[in-house]
Amino acid sequence: MKTILFVDDEINILHGLRRILRGFRTEYDMVFANSADEALEVFANKPIDVMVTDLRMPEHDGVYLLEKVRNQYPYTVRIVLSGYADREISLRTVGLAHQFISKPVNADILIKAIQRASTLHTLITQPELQKLVLRLNSLPSLPDLYYKIVAELNAPETSTQKIGKIIAMDMGMTARVLQLVNSSFFGLSNRIVDPVQATTFLGLETVRDLALSLHVFSQFNEDLLADMGLAKLWDHSLTVAGFSKIILQDLNHNPKQRDVGFVLGLLHDLGKLVLAQNLPRLYKPVLMEAERNEKPLIQLELERFGATHSDVGAYLLGVWGLDEVVMAVTAFHHEPENYVGEFRYEVAAVHIANCFANHIDKTDATLGIHMDYLNALGITNQLSFWKEKCGKFTMEGLRYG
Ligand SMILES: [Fe+2]
Ligand SMILES: [Fe+2]
Repeated sequence: MKTILFVDDEINILHGLRRILRGFRTEYDMVFANSADEALEVFANKPIDVMVTDLRMPEHDGVYLLEKVRNQYPYTVRIVLSGYADREISLRTVGLAHQFISKPVNADILIKAIQRASTLHTLITQPELQKLVLRLNSLPSLPDLYYKIVAELNAPETSTQKIGKIIAMDMGMTARVLQLVNSSFFGLSNRIVDPVQATTFLGLETVRDLALSLHVFSQFNEDLLADMGLAKLWDHSLTVAGFSKIILQDLNHNPKQRDVGFVLGLLHDLGKLVLAQNLPRLYKPVLMEAERNEKPLIQLELERFGATHSDVGAYLLGVWGLDEVVMAVTAFHHEPENYVGEFRYEVAAVHIANCFANHIDKTDATLGIHMDYLNALGITNQLSFWKEKCGKFTMEGLRYG
């Protein structure tokens, strides 16, 4: 049983949490502490899997507690519970906290975060990845725009209008979102010209994830990436995004999931960006060796770092508190057979899309694809159909501005 520790100086909030989580008493061992010092006493007495803490507390605050826990108990997943008013202080905890939940607490969101934390927990307990992540000094931050959209999504009366307007305030983001929506990826007959329309068309969650992906790519130093041989990473990510969307739409006719494949593909190689930016001198020879086709990239990464770009990417997405499906796909896109959770089709779609993107010019449709995994899912017979469909797909008019 996982042990979850909740820390808040307001007794009423702790009572509220206890009430919300009553149905989970048999699944989790839940402990409640009234201050940072009390929380540290709990830590000294038993192992804690997940900590959910408030930020504003008298005497020692949440930042102090997060720092202590990160240093002394690095294997505990750290979740911050904060209100919009705590935005300033929340930003100070990037790198200290793995996930953020906004107050007032919504039961579903809290439970999802705790469940997701269990996945993240298995990831961060890999000692090699832990060591690697500690070496990364500049983890890209979660964009302010994303923070605003998430806060709006969690608000009691949210609307497409409001979210569209938030995007409209950011000129660069507006341009990119419109460019993507109007690209051949989405097959629109009429051009969309304003962000509110784009938001209506794509759906709130997709716009949120799109804003994040676009921001993530724009944060990296282009010259550095070019020097690392990663100048094509954006094109590759877009191609995988488009292919994943085609494949997932075919696999899953749930209209709510219509475009999820796109963002999954867009973020799948995030770990490469992070490694390139943080450890350029060590990562460049690895990339070059892989380029010479001496060994697969993930095997080289494992030998050099003890963890792969898939692990690093999934870790960062977990830190940002993204949906489990995004983490799962990122973590397993090279080795789908190691994944056993509920998003097997999504993992398969991005895995196939990635192999297609790397080998679309080759006649063999199965190149690099883990066929046993596809056989187990019963989707092998669709492979040549998808290959043909993806092959027709053009990237015309799509450049990253
Ligand atoms: Fe990859
Ligand atoms: Fe890739």
